[in-house]
Amino acid sequence: MKKFNVCIVGGGSTFTLGFLKSFVRMRKEFPLQKLVLFDIDEKRQELVGKFGEILFKEQFPELEFSYTTDAKEAYEDMDFVFMQMRSGGLPMRAKDEHIPLSMNLVGQETCGAGGMAYGLRSVVDMIKAVHEIRKYAPEAWVLNYSNPAAIVAEALRREFPKDKRILNICDQPENVVRSCSRLLGCSWEDLDPVYFGLNHNGWFTHMYDRNTGEDLLPKLKKLIKENGFLPQDAEQRDPSWLDTYGMVETMMNDFPEYLPNTYDQYYLYPEYKVATSDPNFTRADEVMAGREKRVFAECKEVIEAGTLGDKFDDISDAHAEMMIEVAIAIAYNKNDRHILIVENNGAIANMQDDAMVEVVCELGANGPRPMGVGNISQFYLGLLVNQVSSEKLLVDAYYENSYQKALEAFTLNRLINDAKKARKVLDLLMEENKGMWPELR
Ligand code: NAD
Ligand code: G6P
Ligand code: MN
Repeated sequence: MKKFNVCIVGGGSTFTLGFLKSFVRMRKEFPLQKLVLFDIDEKRQELVGKFGEILFKEQFPELEFSYTTDAKEAYEDMDFVFMQMRSGGLPMRAKDEHIPLSMNLVGQETCGAGGMAYGLRSVVDMIKAVHEIRKYAPEAWVLNYSNPAAIVAEALRREFPKDKRILNICDQPENVVRSCSRLLGCSWEDLDPVYFGLNHNGWFTHMYDRNTGEDLLPKLKKLIKENGFLPQDAEQRDPSWLDTYGMVETMMNDFPEYLPNTYDQYYLYPEYKVATSDPNFTRADEVMAGREKRVFAECKEVIEAGTLGDKFDDISDAHAEMMIEVAIAIAYNKNDRHILIVENNGAIANMQDDAMVEVVCELGANGPRPMGVGNISQFYLGLLVNQVSSEKLLVDAYYENSYQKALEAFTLNRLINDAKKARKVLDLLMEENKGMWPELR
């Protein structure tokens, strides 16, 4: 049986421990020969790397594991490159959130002004990184989930138009499916969703029972009305995530036709989101005080002890599992269904062909085959055309070094929607992103 070589870009990410543990747990379904972590931050990655050395020595000794800041060492001979970089790090995420909020605009890492600020940083770094990957591993599958995935996907589509081995993925649609399984009391693998949208802006039109074909959406609507909506792993979530999932009930009261992605809340209730955010302690602060601290404390504890001890119990990690399942689908030509970000080309019949949309795809060795949803109705079409236009203008701004295009992207964005505010928040963000954005003139 072939064994695979995998590189993780963003080896020092707070999500890497989950991947390392999941690679051990899934070693039969996805056997690895070699795993390399790559990061530009040597210190940050070293802690995760040393943790990995101990983990694999105890649990997966035949694996060739290493970590590096050298691109050639990282990418040569790779079959899959998983990308989870955060351009500018969590401190810049905090600025992406704080600055818009200081103007009473939504402060979110992937949506609105903050998402576009992060978008320009990510596009610069991701394009550079994928060129480096292609230099050393022309055939490797690039599985990207670095955010903002919608904007990154649009930029990679333009930069690498002929490259059919770049895939952009988000875990949120599947997280919502998993939440539905919690409510329905079934396994999430028994659910067969129909979904359309853009990344972080989409809807489930059906939620079929995979075994019987019954559409469970009417039942789900009733259950959500009666019980609210919780993440599948609610017990491990910070309070802000519980509020986010709770908003699904609100959205379904106002727009009962479909089940929304949790991120639709930012587009539908921006005033509520601003009013309930603390401009001095946003999600980035919560992550830095919580997940980031926990992850690196766990690394240090294991490194000091020289053994994993009981740290192997918390092994299940939905995010990592999802991304590994995507690699498995490609590796073994499974042609099973995943919700992926792909070029539209008619999947949403009444949207432009060159939009990067998020839909259910069958995924195998030759890439994703999107499953069409036909025409979507005016309300959804209006929301999506508005958002995709903003995202495309932002990527234009990158390619043309155009302040004007960035201003248009910001003005059109539903979470800003006013030219004077757009100019002001763009100028503030441009100042804070000097050297990290393309130069806008
Ligand atoms: P983090 O800051 O903890 O980790 C990111 C790592 O990337 C850091 O160690 C940093 O040094 C490294 N990095 C930054 N620029 C780099 C570059 N140019 N090349 C290589 N490495 C680089 O952030 P995090 O909270 O762990 O998130 C990591 C990424 O994963 C983010 O982009 C986040 O948005 C994304 N993410 C996406 C999904 C999804 O559904 N698509 C889900 C979870 C996380
Ligand atoms: C979800 C989204 C990701 C996003 C993450 C943020 O999983 O799909 O795109 O990066 O949430 O989570 P955090 O805990 O960092 O706020
Ligand atoms: Mn996402």
